[in-house]
Amino acid sequence: MEYHLELNWPEFIQRYWQKRPVVLKRGFPNFVDPLSPDELAGLAMESEVDSRLVSHLDGAWQVSHGPFKSYDHLGESNWSILVQAVNHWHEPTAALMRPFRMLPDWRVDDLMISFSVPGGGVGPHIDQYDVFIIQGIGRRRWRVGEKAPMKQHCPHPDLLQVAPFSAIIDEELESGDILYIPPGFPHEGYSLENSMNYSVGFRAPSGRELISGFADYVLQQELGGQRYSDPDIPAREHPADILPQELEKARAMMLALIDDPQQFRAWFGEFISQTRHELDIAPPEPPYQPDEIYDALRQGDTLNRLGGLRVLRIDETIYINGEKLDSPHRLALFALAEHLQLDAQKLGDALEDPSFLAMLTELINSGYWYFAG
Ligand code: SIN
Ligand code: CO
Repeated sequence: MEYHLELNWPEFIQRYWQKRPVVLKRGFPNFVDPLSPDELAGLAMESEVDSRLVSHLDGAWQVSHGPFKSYDHLGESNWSILVQAVNHWHEPTAALMRPFRMLPDWRVDDLMISFSVPGGGVGPHIDQYDVFIIQGIGRRRWRVGEKAPMKQHCPHPDLLQVAPFSAIIDEELESGDILYIPPGFPHEGYSLENSMNYSVGFRAPSGRELISGFADYVLQQELGGQRYSDPDIPAREHPADILPQELEKARAMMLALIDDPQQFRAWFGEFISQTRHELDIAPPEPPYQPDEIYDALRQGDTLNRLGGLRVLRIDETIYINGEKLDSPHRLALFALAEHLQLDAQKLGDALEDPSFLAMLTELINSGYWYFAG
């Protein structure tokens, strides 16, 4: 299935992206849900899949985590089931993310899908990330408040909420409508009917995550072995003092590590190409031989990229799920990064080079790409 998003991107980015929430009425005209509530409930029964059930009764909130064994105990109102990274597990849903590739792949996270019965929702809360919430079947009332510092509280240990807020957006979403919410705007959605919501979520690393990720890289690559040195050790009045120039020197040592553009690029590519959610990796059994892959592609077969696999490019290098990939076949590397589906034509001459074919074979035998159909 192909989804066509009615959106003027330059205008959207200028007026709303990271700035203001907005309802994109009929963003997806004639929207067709890529999966059914039953299929979603089935996914939430699988142990690898990350899911939650949130319910409330008279202001008391309950959260339980999947995998779920049955749904028999649930009533007809006030609950919602939420499944993370469905695009990793259910191929057709990934199509919903494609129209958002107008925004860069590295900023995209996953597709979270929820099914809610009347009254169902997770309550008023704020998120750290941008999100496009697409309405599928059913109607749901969404309220969004102004961005402001808000106290958060936990009505249940696994649920972070904010106090009631007054709305700047208060609308009933119908199938194909999209609500965009930048980070920090309080919001809540209450279902009016049995309804499905598809959340295309973004990611943005915090300084803390960057520092900690870079520190891991420094250790792993055994960088920064040089020690603090002071052949001109400055005299001081009090032996207990650390002088400003000494502090500055220690700081400069750390900054110099980050300031190496080549290392920084290599680290960032590895870091940001790692997914935050488990991948559905199923390596082919038995593994393919290079000539089998060559023949299949030459006969017109196509390769699909594993759902949720992050393939990013910095200059001439591509990064796949935390690993760096180099090849003199620039165009073929670009094709790996650019296209979700590959064929012989997109890979071009590289297919004739045994070393590229060996690399491709390894990617396929790792379960990162698989033959369609
Ligand atoms: C949802 O209930 O589908 C989305 C929850 C949220 O607002 O993050
Ligand atoms: Co939210």
